[in-house]
Amino acid sequence: MVTVDDVRKAQRAEGTATIMAIGTANPPNFYDQSQYAEIYARWTNSEHMTEVKNKMQRMCDRTMIKKRHSHITDEIMTENPNMRAYKAPSLDTRQDMAEVLISELGKEAANKAINEWGQSKSKITHLICCTTMGPSMPGIDYRIVKLLGLDLSVKRLMLYQQGCNAGGTVLRIAKDLAENTKGARVLVVCSETTLVGFRGPNETDCDVLVCHSLFGDGAAAVIVGSDPMPGVENPIFELVASAPTLVPDSPNAICGSIREYGLTIHIGKEVPDLIANHIENRLVEVFHPLGISDWNSIFWATHPGGRAILDQVEAKLGLKPEKLRASRHVLAEYGNMSCVTVLFILDETRKRSIADGLKTTGEGLEWGVLFGFGPGLTIETVVLHSVNIA
Ligand SMILES: CC(C)(COP(=O)(O)OP(=O)(O)OC[C@H]1O[C@@H](n2cnc3c(N)ncnc32)[C@H](O)[C@@H]1OP(=O)(O)O)[C@@H](O)C(=O)NCCC(=O)NCCS
Repeated sequence: MVTVDDVRKAQRAEGTATIMAIGTANPPNFYDQSQYAEIYARWTNSEHMTEVKNKMQRMCDRTMIKKRHSHITDEIMTENPNMRAYKAPSLDTRQDMAEVLISELGKEAANKAINEWGQSKSKITHLICCTTMGPSMPGIDYRIVKLLGLDLSVKRLMLYQQGCNAGGTVLRIAKDLAENTKGARVLVVCSETTLVGFRGPNETDCDVLVCHSLFGDGAAAVIVGSDPMPGVENPIFELVASAPTLVPDSPNAICGSIREYGLTIHIGKEVPDLIANHIENRLVEVFHPLGISDWNSIFWATHPGGRAILDQVEAKLGLKPEKLRASRHVLAEYGNMSCVTVLFILDETRKRSIADGLKTTGEGLEWGVLFGFGPGLTIETVVLHSVNIA
């Protein structure tokens, strides 16, 4: 008979993909969330729309966000009136600016990850890049290769327009590559800027207000590989299993598209409920074989799409408040940075674990879970195993 111990050993056998470095970056400008409704009204010349401004303020106040970093500045707004209109042709300008900003910020995060890893860039065999901006050819992956000076033969994969779930998607793909290619060292670079979807308000369009009260700019990079070289490469988290799924009949809950006036995103009010109602099934599917059914016994890295999602997941599963501490911390300090956010949460989790003198990178615990939520409605689930802190 196969025991839980057999399953645990098999899942963590030699060759299990491991995160060996994490780097993060944000643009230097940041905005105080309590002032944002004011700033947004000024940028978009919409001070006279008092109803809209008040609603934006109410939303901002409810987000639990303290500040958000942004590439958007007074100068950019002044120089690009079509970007601050509600719907004016502006895609060319947005694409041109975003390609440069996303690549540069991605490079900064990647350099930090490579420095932590401590190995030569020539050892990077694969590159996965991910962003919500619209595509270009050659893409952000090409720019990252050039900016970092990577080997021209690095095996590239570019993911555009995946949405917030993609922080889990990139780890799932990196795991598959690392475990199926001997010696692979996969550099993952996620980078986002809200510049691609920034626009002025309209009295009847609440989506604009929801998105502008939640999203922030940032980039994160990780290096993933199997069998870290002892004493040379330092494991942080093992990627034990991955399990994406679609919530049935919810294609319109989160959706978006690139229009001539930039990226548009709809986030339905039903999203927190949908996630809370489906999350336990996901946990049971991946943790039952490991003999785990107490969701307070694992550490958590959940995409904080918005405060209401964290609140509802916490309530539904009876989680202790400390379980979502890292997710709430990153949400408060940076807002929702789409696919980048869960990688910040992993970084925060291991750093805080070290600072608090805990036994493992996962808040002193052995097993953990990472969730990504996004269009589809997609739920990406990644089972993590922590590493002992020396
Ligand atoms: C946006 C959010 C922080 C607002 O907090 P809240 O606790 O719902 O606060 P309230 O219910 O007081 O809502 C504030 C206002 O926002 C409106 N609102 C909230 N969610 C909305 C949505 N998804 N679409 C449109 N309007 C929304 C409310 O109707 C309310 O308007 P009113 O003040 O005119 O009555 C919260 O709803 C949230 O976190 N939502 C999840 C966001 C999400 O799904 N993100 C996924 C991206 S991956």
